[in-house]
Amino acid sequence: MSDADAQKRAAGAAAAALVEPGMVVGLGTGSTAVWFVRALAERKLDVLCVPTSRTTGDLARELGLKLGELGETREIDLTVDGADEIGPGLSLIKGGGGALLREKLVWESSRRCVVIADAAKKVACLGQYPLPIEVVAFGHRTTALRICDALDECGIGVAPRLRTRDGAPFVTDSGNLIYDAPCGRIEEVAALAGALKGVTGVVEHGLFLDLADIGLIGGPDGVDRLEP
Ligand code: A5P
Repeated sequence: MSDADAQKRAAGAAAAALVEPGMVVGLGTGSTAVWFVRALAERKLDVLCVPTSRTTGDLARELGLKLGELGETREIDLTVDGADEIGPGLSLIKGGGGALLREKLVWESSRRCVVIADAAKKVACLGQYPLPIEVVAFGHRTTALRICDALDECGIGVAPRLRTRDGAPFVTDSGNLIYDAPCGRIEEVAALAGALKGVTGVVEHGLFLDLADIGLIGGPDGVDRLEP
């Protein structure tokens, strides 16, 4: 196992230790969230889980976890999920796995959110990782031009790229497309988040601001706990 995987596993196990019997738990998506789901299943607690993607739902079901749908369970007590970048104040870029919309819906419906990651995800300034932006398929090229304008307003002069998989546009679980914006540095994260939300056709973006309550970051010497 690589060092990064060992760190992800340790962070996932530390997060699973926060879960208590009877909780409703949001399950994130991605390679780090998988470690959490596995560690949670091993605890064999009586919990109800709300997955953020079909992939995570399939894994959780296979491992014997009880599943519910967002809005059909009582409030989510705790959501645990990975991130692509973790910046100051636990600001995050998410969506590398394409699940950002369902992730944000679940995060925003949770009393507490825990981000888990390996140490390489921590950055001084968000933006090195291309920012995922989910858009409706209809008119997406026009929407991409408007996204360019929104980025430009925020001093970011880059063009977003349509995400593809196996030569075809990548389609999300909700039937949308994703553009990835290689911002470089995002100095004004809140301004960019607002500008992107103002573009018709943009469903959601991967900036998760003021949402994470705890960070559990695996490193060479164990798991560090961060708060915003
Ligand atoms: C999924 O859409 C993402 O938001 C993931 O949570 C994020 O990409 C982190 O993935 P890894 O844990 O695989 O790095």
